[in-house]
Amino acid sequence: MGHAVLSGRGRKRLLSGHPWIYADDVTAVEAEAGALVAVRAPDESHLGWALFSSKSRIALRLVTRAEEEPQRAFWRLRAQRAVAHRRALGLLAPRDACRLLSGDADGFPGLVLDRYADALVLQSGCQGSDAFRDLWLECVLEALDVPVTSILDRSDSSTRTHEELEQRVEWLRGERSEPLEVQEAARHDVPALSYEVSLTEGHKTGHYLDQRENRARAARFARGARVLDAFSYDGLFAVRAALAGAKDVLCIDQSQEALERALRNAERNGVAGKLRIEKKNAMHDLRERAARGERYELVIVDPPAFARSRREVEGALRGYHELNRRAIALLEPEGVLVSASCSHNVGRDIFLNAIADAALEEGRAARVFDYTGAGPDHPVLANLPESEYLKCAFVRV
Ligand SMILES: C[S@@+](CC[C@H](N)C(=O)[O-])C[C@H]1O[C@@H](n2cnc3c(N)ncnc32)[C@H](O)[C@@H]1O
Repeated sequence: MGHAVLSGRGRKRLLSGHPWIYADDVTAVEAEAGALVAVRAPDESHLGWALFSSKSRIALRLVTRAEEEPQRAFWRLRAQRAVAHRRALGLLAPRDACRLLSGDADGFPGLVLDRYADALVLQSGCQGSDAFRDLWLECVLEALDVPVTSILDRSDSSTRTHEELEQRVEWLRGERSEPLEVQEAARHDVPALSYEVSLTEGHKTGHYLDQRENRARAARFARGARVLDAFSYDGLFAVRAALAGAKDVLCIDQSQEALERALRNAERNGVAGKLRIEKKNAMHDLRERAARGERYELVIVDPPAFARSRREVEGALRGYHELNRRAIALLEPEGVLVSASCSHNVGRDIFLNAIADAALEEGRAARVFDYTGAGPDHPVLANLPESEYLKCAFVRV
């Protein structure tokens, strides 16, 4: 069994609630890369158990503050709790999809695990989650009461380089090359919807599961509306809007492949007649449309992360400002802007400021009436602000 000793500052940080300890705050360590280690204070008192990374700036990721070393039963209980949470949310219908494990927030540092119908896709981001991958998967499979015929390890994120880990895409069960169909079950007043996912080619683990609730929220303003879905990816904001009675919906994305999937998704849901696609650079295209006098009642802008590090925040804010200005210029008076940011370095307040300033420059008042994040299957650990990344503002202008 390995152990790591913290500096006084490291101990303080851990006791303040943050689950990550940086390498600078570890004064001694005896452990294999990726191992579970006993964490000790400078006076050797026990602080908990953590996963050790030998290469990363984040040397320790806390697993538990308990005395006892986590064994299989510990992980099984964690997996059961994570699955029970999704079950309580009504997300485990037979062909539905959701995030099953959301890294530190579910107590599995470094790992995300998504379910698409009968397939699981995981992404491991650190040495510890690589080392524990198979055990954690077994525990989740024990906790799940839905059949799983395929499992894909899509640990192809560039962030793995911080840990000097290779990128890999590996089928662990039931390889499949064809896209699969997800059927989002009807819930409350949100009708059922189906869509296609390519596990190997799609973004992230195949799809943007985090926007599910926000799509339904946006669709409340779609009845009779002309809708623009910019950065649409596979068009699910647009399909939801069309299902909710939009007059017509336009998807703009730079990826032809994603747009064609959006068309197929519209067909699947019987709204192909309402949905158009255009392959464009949305930043330029929105400005040109406004100049041509195009107007919409609902505009959705959900761009990729503009800031991937703290250094990029200033430039990102200029980007959000400009993008939202162009989106607002396209809106009829009293139109609704749905504006998202997935840059986790851009906090809520400064994102909202960028929208407020953009509206001001267009001579409009931005009235924010909803301000959300990712869906409830993507919990955020309150002590780990880094786990909150998605912001979505609903604004009348
Ligand atoms: C965060 S995803 C959008 C997710 C989507 N709204 C959903 O609900 O699934 C960002 C999308 O922006 C597209 N994209 C990136 N840069 C772009 C650009 N300059 N113009 C148009 N699309 C762009 C990507 O192809 C990707 O599909």
